[in-house]
Amino acid sequence: MKIKRVAILTSGGDAPGMNSAIFGAFSECQKNNIQLYGVLNGYDGLIDNKFIELDYQLFNGRINRGGSILKSGRSKRFLKSNYIKIAIDNLKENKIDALIIIGGDGSLKGAMKLRDNGVKLICLPGTIDNDLNFSYTIGFDTATNNIVNAIDNIMDSLSAFNYGATIKIMGNKCTDLLDTVAKAVHTDLLVKEKDFDLPNLVKRIKLQNDGNHLPPVILVLENTVDTEDLATTLQNKCKTQFRPHILGYIQRGGAPSAFDRRYGLSAGSCAVESIINNEYGFAIGMVGENLEKKEIENCFKF
Ligand code: F6P
Repeated sequence: MKIKRVAILTSGGDAPGMNSAIFGAFSECQKNNIQLYGVLNGYDGLIDNKFIELDYQLFNGRINRGGSILKSGRSKRFLKSNYIKIAIDNLKENKIDALIIIGGDGSLKGAMKLRDNGVKLICLPGTIDNDLNFSYTIGFDTATNNIVNAIDNIMDSLSAFNYGATIKIMGNKCTDLLDTVAKAVHTDLLVKEKDFDLPNLVKRIKLQNDGNHLPPVILVLENTVDTEDLATTLQNKCKTQFRPHILGYIQRGGAPSAFDRRYGLSAGSCAVESIINNEYGFAIGMVGENLEKKEIENCFKF
C-alpha cells in the first residue's frame, strides 16, 4: 500500500529530543512525498480532531528546545472505549495511513488499544524516566545532565558551609535517573522507597561527617518521602545542617543534549522508513548503540 499521509503525536511527560524526533519523521516524509500531520495535545488531539499539517516554519526557532512543538497531554478520556472509537474515526476522516506516537509507558499502553483496533502505528520511546525496556529513552540524557548541573550549583554553595542537601528527583517509579545522577555527583546516599532504612542512612552520614568527606547529598525518588521532613530529621539526628530541594520541571525542560537530538532524529526517520516498508505495530528504540524494533508488550519495565 502506498503511504500518503502520516500523523504524529507526543504524549505524557514531554521530553527533550521529542522535537528532533518529529523533525526526523518530517524530513523522511518530505523525501518520500508523504504529508505529515501533527496531532496537538497528545491523545486528546485525536479525540478533538486537532490535526495540523507540518511545515518547516513550525520548527523554526523551536527545534532545538525542550518541550514539544505539538504539545503533549495525559488524556483521561482515552482510557474509555467510546473516545478511542472517536479517535479512530478522526484518523479515518483525515485519511491518515499510519500514526507515530512518541511517549512513555502510559502512551505505549494507549497505543496498544489503537493497534488492536486496526490502526497502523509505530511508537518511539520518549520520556525522561527511562522506564521502558530500551537502553535509553529520548530525553533521559538531557534530564540527567540538567539534574547534575543543578546539583553541582547547589553544592557549590552548600559546600562552602559544609551543609548537606536532600534533593527530590523525578522518575516516577523508575530509579534510572536517580541512579545515574548519583554516580555523576558522587553520592551513594539514596532514598528509593517510603519505608527506607533511616537508621542506616543516619549511620552512613555520621561516618562521613568527619570533615574529611564531601558534604552529604541525599537523592530522594519522588513519591517516596518528603525532602523537607527528611532534611529536618537528618539535621536533628546528624547534627549537620541540611537544606531540602525540589528541582521540579528544571529536570524536564531545556535544550536537548546532542545525544537526545541525534537519537530523536534517527528514531523519527526510522519510524517513517518502517511505515513505508509496511512494517508497523511495534516500538523502535535504542538497544545498545542501535535502533531496534520491539513488540509494544515487551517494552514495559513496570
Ligand atoms: O514522566 C515524566 C515525569 O516527569 C515523571 O518523572 C513525573 O512523575 C511526572 O512526569 C510528572 O507529571 P506531571 O508533568 O503530570 O506533573
